Amino acid sequence: MQPAVINIFEKAAKKAGKILTRDYGELENLQINSKSIGDFVTNADVNVEKSILETLKYYYPKYSYITEESGEIKGDENTIVIDPIDGTSNFIHGIPFVSIVISKMIDGEITDGIIYNPILNEFFWSSKGKGAWCNNKRLRVSNRKILSECIIGTGIPFGKRIYKNYLLEIDEISKSTAGIRRLGSAALDMAYVAAGRLDAFWENDLNLWDISSGVLMVEEAGGKLTTILGEKWNVNCRDIIASNKVIHEELQKKLTLL
Ligand code: IPD
Ligand code: CA
Ligand code: CA
Repeated sequence: MQPAVINIFEKAAKKAGKILTRDYGELENLQINSKSIGDFVTNADVNVEKSILETLKYYYPKYSYITEESGEIKGDENTIVIDPIDGTSNFIHGIPFVSIVISKMIDGEITDGIIYNPILNEFFWSSKGKGAWCNNKRLRVSNRKILSECIIGTGIPFGKRIYKNYLLEIDEISKSTAGIRRLGSAALDMAYVAAGRLDAFWENDLNLWDISSGVLMVEEAGGKLTTILGEKWNVNCRDIIASNKVIHEELQKKLTLL
């Protein structure tokens, strides 16, 4: 059974999801601003976030909030993290791989989270000790053991985010796996690892709101998380490897040997 906090996150996400779906693919109604090359924000990002905050603040007026578009709102030790649209570039281009992300953490520990794709109608949630779920189906990571049979998600950098070794990483992982996917929403990439659709995912230069819910989902689905250097992941880390556990070490070594 979904805990009360997930019911409230679901209510907020599904209400805001109507704004996302209404504006999806409606280029003439979208105001698009660019923060830097490839880093867009639209009026839909702002309106979706406004709607989520309105619902959540009614139930949790004293909590702290960390949001992508409105920044930080200071409150008590309970913190809600929000990415109103993860996959804004997909959203603008009419590619249905987009999600609304809401998570809760206390003292740096993520306790509950949702990832909702209103276009494909998939609602992922997880709570500490209660498993990871999608539309009432329990999620488990894949059990592929042989790297050459695995499909790995990543985020290919663009503009200012390009870093020195990214082509070497792509080359190394392409050579030893069944292929790489760059789907365009880090949150959904993580949910897909939890669902066993992707066998692993890695990305550099992420924000907490991109992956907060996904971290708990992968953990609750039996997967493993570390930084790219193989250290324990924590909420201040900006890079991540999430996997089905079995292939983790092999993948992690390939990414660090470069
Ligand atoms: C982006 C997506 C993308 C990832 C970028 C993120 P946004 O979030 O998660 O997949 O590669 O690093 O910034 O900007 O669409 O919310
Ligand atoms: Ca994001
Ligand atoms: Ca976003």
